[in-house]
Amino acid sequence: MATDLGILAREVRENAHAPYSGFKVGAAVRTRAGDTFAGCNVENAAYPEGTCAEAGAIAAMVAAGAREITQAFVIADSPRPVPPCGGCRQKLAEFAAADVVVILATLDGQEQHTTVGALLPGAFAAKDMES
Ligand code: THU
Repeated sequence: MATDLGILAREVRENAHAPYSGFKVGAAVRTRAGDTFAGCNVENAAYPEGTCAEAGAIAAMVAAGAREITQAFVIADSPRPVPPCGGCRQKLAEFAAADVVVILATLDGQEQHTTVGALLPGAFAAKDMES
């Protein structure tokens, strides 16, 4: 059975290093080959050096040699299914087609299913640098 991205994201969220915001986020991605990678936010006393959960999951995927996301899941203890920040929308768009489903979730079980294209319409992409 395919690894449940929701379970992975929920589990990795526990490891988040978020002493400044107190807001732990977990993310998980599945690749074309079916492998899964998870990441959590890692904050820093020098605030801008902190990284998002999605960035961590994507970095783990790339480090393992994979490049194509086919599904993503993001979870936090938020009042509505956690909306990825703008930078993470761009990071997802680098490795996922516009129709890739992204599930946004809350700890208490709310889920919103959206797509990479809906999260970042008109995303800047490699093709925009072609002359
Ligand atoms: N955060 C994420 O990890 N992903 C997002 O898409 C939204 C924000 C983190 C960054 C920071 O550590 C904390 O949530 C509060 O902004």
